[in-house]
Amino acid sequence: MAENGFCKDFLWGAASAAHQIEGAYLEDGKGMGIWDTFGQKTGYIIRNENGNVACDHYHRYREDVAIMKELGLKSYRFSVSWPRVMPDGYGTVNEKGLRFYIDLVNELTEAGIEPMVTLFHWNLPTAIYELGGWENPQIVDWFAQYTDVVTLALGGKVKYWMTFNEPQLFIGAGLNAGVFAPFEKKSTEALMRISKNVYLAHGKAVRVIRKNCRDSIVGMAPTGEIVIPRDLKAESIERARTLTFSMKKENFTSSITWWSDPVFMGAFPKEAEGLFGEHVPSFTDDEWKIVTEPLDFYGFNIYQGLEDLDPAEKYGPYAYPGSPKTSMDWNVTPEVLYWSCRFLYERYGKPIMITENGMSCFDWVSLDGKVHDPNRIDFLHRYLRSIKDAVSEGIPVLGYQYWSIMDNFEWINGYDKRFGLVYVDYRTQKRTIKDSAYWYRDVIASNGGNL
Ligand code: BG6
Repeated sequence: MAENGFCKDFLWGAASAAHQIEGAYLEDGKGMGIWDTFGQKTGYIIRNENGNVACDHYHRYREDVAIMKELGLKSYRFSVSWPRVMPDGYGTVNEKGLRFYIDLVNELTEAGIEPMVTLFHWNLPTAIYELGGWENPQIVDWFAQYTDVVTLALGGKVKYWMTFNEPQLFIGAGLNAGVFAPFEKKSTEALMRISKNVYLAHGKAVRVIRKNCRDSIVGMAPTGEIVIPRDLKAESIERARTLTFSMKKENFTSSITWWSDPVFMGAFPKEAEGLFGEHVPSFTDDEWKIVTEPLDFYGFNIYQGLEDLDPAEKYGPYAYPGSPKTSMDWNVTPEVLYWSCRFLYERYGKPIMITENGMSCFDWVSLDGKVHDPNRIDFLHRYLRSIKDAVSEGIPVLGYQYWSIMDNFEWINGYDKRFGLVYVDYRTQKRTIKDSAYWYRDVIASNGGNL
């Protein structure tokens, strides 16, 4: 079993998403996605930047995989661009687009790196958006069709699959809060219809993956707010757990339970009926079977935890005057990884995969030509120790995918935020491996022994 707490085949990796790194936004027959479409308009993204070129990974993937190999990564989580593979979202397949992913997977396999594929990381084909997007029930079959195409092409070599990246963001931020593409604020009734389509699209896609890929290992990559107990007293832990798994009316689409309870437990969160009454989606028995198609792991993207403060308390252990912050202005809360693994494992009963975690810093290339990022090293050290605490207690954690392999297009924040292990100079596309990446290489080589 565990060596240093970490299992011997622990997947030390890094992650990315198609729209954030690929560029080549109109090349080789790719269609437009909603982030492409809004990226051409003014007023949505800082300085009107866009992902048209991004890290030019579409052309430089060989160089990028070589860097991953040099770092000794065991796994690489990336997403397939739906509009690159199916420009209209359904129907015609763009063979050149599909070829790119076949080549990428071959390159990874040859480098000894386990590919982990996310089918949907937010760049919905604009053609489908124009037909109603997530609100159109036909999206369930369109997504299944797209999944069929991708899994038939990659299934022989890819074992790890995730259907969606963060419904909390592409529905919560995109269609409830209106701060991410397509920047809309839908009514509660519409959000219920949309949610129903998301659950069913997920479940049908799982069935397609199982059909096409032998030995598949399937999950989803949601996110959510984990509340860190204020101390280790049983009642404090219980309180944090209750807060973590609660849901509020105004932002229910950002909660953990709204998306995970139906999928993993076959029921809506307990508050749902009281908050939404008859509007809560209804499923037939057959539909429930689709929604609850068994998964192999609980993937989780997590960057910071919440403090459990009394109303009168102004500051807590993580946020106080001058406390550590990332360049996203996020609090540094290492223990959130321990509590994520523990709370999510206890509730959903599946092994955990940290599918994203990382830090944006104000990095630049120093006079010596290197990128020194001591804060990221310290961040990683603290957060990885927190996973070590979880695995040492016997909580099954399959892997850790650092976000991100390289600096990239950070959605509405454009190119300002640098999360990468590898620095990208967007003027020249020159890659520079940061100090933290070399540090991570040593962690991987010792399977966490040096943490
Ligand atoms: C996740 C996303 O939300 O976190 C990534 O899956 C993203 O695509 C990252 O880049 C960091 O930032 P943000 O602003 O999207 O939370």
